[in-house]
Amino acid sequence: MSDNKKKRVSVILGLQWGDEGKGKFIDYLVSTLSETQKLLVARFQGGSNAGHSIEFGNRKVVFHSIPSGILEKNTKNLVGAGVNIDVVSMKKEIAEIKDIAPWWKENLFIAKEATVVVPTAKLIEAVQESERGGGRIGTTNKAIGPTYGDFYSRTDDLAVYEAEDDKVFHKRYEEIKESHLKTLSGKYNFQPDLKALAEEEEKFFDGVALLQTLNIVPCHSFLQTALKNGEQVIAEGAQGTLLDVRFGTRRGVTSSHTTSAGACVGLGLAPSDIGTVLGVCKAYVTRVGNGCFPTEIGGQEADKWSTTHTRADEENLNYDVNDSVPLKQGIALRGLGNEYGATTGRPRRTGWLDLPLLKYAIALNGVTELGITKIDILDTLNEIAVCTHYEGQDEVDISKLAEAKPVYKIFPGWKKDTKGFTSLADIPKEMKDYLDFIEVETGVPISFISTGPKRDEIIKKV
Ligand code: GDP
Ligand code: IMO
Ligand code: MG
Repeated sequence: MSDNKKKRVSVILGLQWGDEGKGKFIDYLVSTLSETQKLLVARFQGGSNAGHSIEFGNRKVVFHSIPSGILEKNTKNLVGAGVNIDVVSMKKEIAEIKDIAPWWKENLFIAKEATVVVPTAKLIEAVQESERGGGRIGTTNKAIGPTYGDFYSRTDDLAVYEAEDDKVFHKRYEEIKESHLKTLSGKYNFQPDLKALAEEEEKFFDGVALLQTLNIVPCHSFLQTALKNGEQVIAEGAQGTLLDVRFGTRRGVTSSHTTSAGACVGLGLAPSDIGTVLGVCKAYVTRVGNGCFPTEIGGQEADKWSTTHTRADEENLNYDVNDSVPLKQGIALRGLGNEYGATTGRPRRTGWLDLPLLKYAIALNGVTELGITKIDILDTLNEIAVCTHYEGQDEVDISKLAEAKPVYKIFPGWKKDTKGFTSLADIPKEMKDYLDFIEVETGVPISFISTGPKRDEIIKKV
């Protein structure tokens, strides 16, 4: 077998239902590695449905389409071919980082094969979600499903290379718009508000005008040149493994391939290019949106609560994270972890670490090392539960997940403040036992333990 270390592509992706802390990890790694290596961070799928938060000093930035390496001067960033680009959102993101990343323009590259999200796709998504009724997915409303749908049906998709030239773009755009409006009126009997649409179009055209000024490159050859030049590529995943369109918890998933294989199809890489696969995983689990969640604290009652309440409703509840009522405990954990969507602000459902699903995600991605985040959020818990298996189910079968009955092992909490810890020697014994158990059960080494949202709040284990 060949030596993995010679491979210059590392994949960093989420092992749960998203929001594991991928943004923080990438920013941290880039800030440390860029001192000695030439780096290129390449987003391989998703779009503005992603919300990757990075905190430094007293600033917080949330990236949706722009890769998380942009804050480091000597790092290139590529929005890969597998990404759906929301040009309106991208323009806002750029405005937000202009002062802290004045090099953004020379360091940002856009794959010409990527797809551009058009305003009418958002209207289609809204109508589709309402048609789904009780079966609605709870999407982020960023037109991810319709845009990938158009791409795979090879009809109403707009490629970046088509948007590059104004003449081609306007012709293509009008064709797509007409087709979408036909679908809206014919299939869904929906007549859009044309004035509101014209306003959205205006913002969209501004976004396309900005896109046309960026470095637009052919994805595959751009990456091959970088690899030949000795650059280290970090493929940045969005969403999480359990939201993968094929192997995730269907149908409450996103519309792209969120696994390490997705890095190949989204960037034009060969599987043999990939060396390290760093799986990012929270010390507990969250999920935003609909769909099964075996270890949800408070079960169905909690699921219903989180879809019918907002952050403001929960702000003054002051529930105790050790409350014996699971619904209240889950809400309290949400408060401690600030588990409200970075993109939509929705409450994220909270649950215990689920080892069967974690092992499933590790195997799907070929994870070589783990990064555990938000361990500090468990600091005040008396007890921490971990699902070791499901009653009567030896293997994860996604089609049977809704019936899964988790069996838990209970760990004593450490009841100590560990926020910001940077040394392994300082961590409490109970935390070490908890992390050792994860390592032994999964058979994958934990390389990093994140103890806070900031760049330097991290323990490097190996
Ligand atoms: P991503 O989508 O995977 O990048 O994750 P998000 O940014 O959506 O959500 C993770 C949240 O947790 C963000 O607000 C981060 O700033 C924060 N965060 C990341 N790692 C840690 C950690 O170790 N401890 C704490 N307390 N917060 C963290
Ligand atoms: P990051 O990259 C968490 C969820 C939505 C919904 C489902 C489908 O920040 O981890 P979509 O808009 O993609 O069609 O919605 O996927 N979802 C995410 N949940 N983090 C994300 O991204 C997500 N992106 C999409 O809530 O359940
Ligand atoms: Mg997120």
